[in-house]
Amino acid sequence: MKRKHSLVLVPLLGLSMALTACGGDDSSDDTGSDAGSGSEAAAGKIGVILPDTESSVRWESADRPALEAAFDEAGVEYDIQNAEGDAERMTQIADTMIGNGVTVLAIVNLDSESGAAIQEKAASQGVATIDYDRLTLGGSAEYYVSFDNTVVGELQGQGLADCLGDKKANIVFLNGSPTDNNATLFAEGAHSVLDGMSNYTVVGEQAVPDWDNEEAATIFQQLYTAADGKVDGVLAANDGLGGAAISILEGAGQDGKVPVTGQDATVEGLQNVLAGTQCMTVYKSATQEAGALADVAIALVNGEDAEVTGTTVDSSDDSEVPSILLEPQAITKDNVGDVISDGGQKAEDVCTGDFADLCAEAGIS
Ligand code: BGC
Repeated sequence: MKRKHSLVLVPLLGLSMALTACGGDDSSDDTGSDAGSGSEAAAGKIGVILPDTESSVRWESADRPALEAAFDEAGVEYDIQNAEGDAERMTQIADTMIGNGVTVLAIVNLDSESGAAIQEKAASQGVATIDYDRLTLGGSAEYYVSFDNTVVGELQGQGLADCLGDKKANIVFLNGSPTDNNATLFAEGAHSVLDGMSNYTVVGEQAVPDWDNEEAATIFQQLYTAADGKVDGVLAANDGLGGAAISILEGAGQDGKVPVTGQDATVEGLQNVLAGTQCMTVYKSATQEAGALADVAIALVNGEDAEVTGTTVDSSDDSEVPSILLEPQAITKDNVGDVISDGGQKAEDVCTGDFADLCAEAGIS
């Protein structure tokens, strides 16, 4: 079943574009948005709302510059804002963007309920919406652009198994936010690999609200104590949560002895991988994801269908959302250099201080 909103939205979008065309340029706004000068300039404006600055450094350090580059390259007008972890703020930003004439709105929701409300309001005003990175359950986005998040979890599970090997091992799961559909998929993917391995026992598992790194340290400390310190591996859903677990393991003199997973190939995550305190991370190219978003958004601005890789089922109502799902890559000590050569991080940021020697050993310059 396709989402019913998408059927309604197409004529509305056409109408809004017609109105925009008649009403002239509504490009004045207060947000430092930018119009590029590429050859295929589209007549419309794209709004993107990023979720926060704390659940992962990726949003501001990787996604924003990649989105700016993709929109500049396409020569389309855009406005990128960050909701700072506040769903009400995201709602207000969306209202302001729509008031300022965005014709396509992409959000990384903070929870499905607030995301769906934003999308419904946008649709009622003829603004098409896209789910960026996180699927809004029960939402009405026209498209979903992300990585294959189940595969992300599988790579984490397999990465941890590769680091642990055949021995018997107790594993703790530190999952992402319960309000983030991706976190559910990451955990499912990791379980699908690890649960079938009879030598492993899950001795603790908890979701970390809002992916809060500080709370993650507290939660991990509790799980670690409850397991009597008999923890041999940690399936942490991203580099921030992994870093929190590593800090607790460090306090117990166990850092580097207990493999920990991660995600996002952040500077800190890659440094931990090089140092051996983190077993792996997952690289998801922001350039690819932002580029895919720009393609879809520009198609919508032009009233065209976007090219997709398939559909994603919204588990809340079994509706199918046309999607572009990209392929994530597992990163271990052996291929940290891949992230750098792909432009995912700069050697000068990763190879600072003590990490210079580790970078040299890993052939990164
Ligand atoms: C993203 C991850 C990110 C996490 C916390 C997830 O939805 O897919 O890349 O680490 O949110 O922001």
